Amino acid sequence: MDPLTIEDITILPGRNRKGMTENFSSLTICPGDTISIVGPTGSGKSALINDIEIFAHRDTVTGRTVLVNGEPAPEEFVRDPAKKPVALITQNTKCLADMTAGDFLKMHVRSRKIEDEKIVERTIALANEFTGEKILPEVRMTSLSGGQTRSLMVADAIMISNAPIILLDEIENAGIFKEKVIECLKTHHKALIFVTHDPVVSLLSAKRIVMKNGAVERILEPGEEERDALAEIIRMDRTLCRLRELIRAGEIIRSVNPA
Ligand SMILES: Nc1ncnc2c1ncn2[C@@H]1O[C@H](COP(=O)(O)OP(=O)(O)OP(=O)(O)O)[C@@H](O)[C@H]1O
Ligand SMILES: [Mg+2]
Repeated sequence: MDPLTIEDITILPGRNRKGMTENFSSLTICPGDTISIVGPTGSGKSALINDIEIFAHRDTVTGRTVLVNGEPAPEEFVRDPAKKPVALITQNTKCLADMTAGDFLKMHVRSRKIEDEKIVERTIALANEFTGEKILPEVRMTSLSGGQTRSLMVADAIMISNAPIILLDEIENAGIFKEKVIECLKTHHKALIFVTHDPVVSLLSAKRIVMKNGAVERILEPGEEERDALAEIIRMDRTLCRLRELIRAGEIIRSVNPA
């Protein structure tokens, strides 16, 4: 097996804020899995995805260990950004690069030694499926909106970084089409780990990690139990999305379900 192929990653428990061991034995994540992380503010959600991002080795505040294919992560995963199999996209993803979106992607393509000339175009086209306002290749990175920047980062993670594990920290309010993003990441066979407060994203994930006091409190796998609720929530969410779009477009809202 290619040593860089990721079959799975395994999270081993650390400690909560009081120093007590976490309430799970181990959690294995494979490409194609969708997992959401939920819990109150300050409960340790971001700390958990940061542990995954850096392949923690009992060297973070939580004391967790994250293994790749059952073993400690190879050194280059941690050291070499071009080999890093994890892309973390946060709400605060800002890009300070003073260059156009097209040049930014071209630079990334060169650093990854990718020969495909059309990949920049395809990456921007994919980003534009996620965002309301289209991104043009000649626009400067610093002029992109928050939602456009995150859309571009998600598309870049899929197409150029080709990262098998994608971590998304609260992107639902970022003005990007989350269902589209989830669907697209699933078809690309990525492991998706979301920090989220969004009912649609939570219920679309097969597993839900509930955080409390800096630790994993429980891991839910509701499956069929939530099927009817999910259908109803998606319906409500579509109504809200439509209203949001109308409001954005400057309309007056006279009815929740306009004909
Ligand atoms: N197990 C732990 N032991 C000690 N400190 C922890 C632990 N888990 C998280 N922390 C610390 O607690 C603080 C809050 O955690 P974190 O930022 O992960 O919360 P969060 O759930 O992401 O909150 P928010 O919803 O506001 O983003 C951070 O400073 C983090 O380093
Ligand atoms: Mg957080």
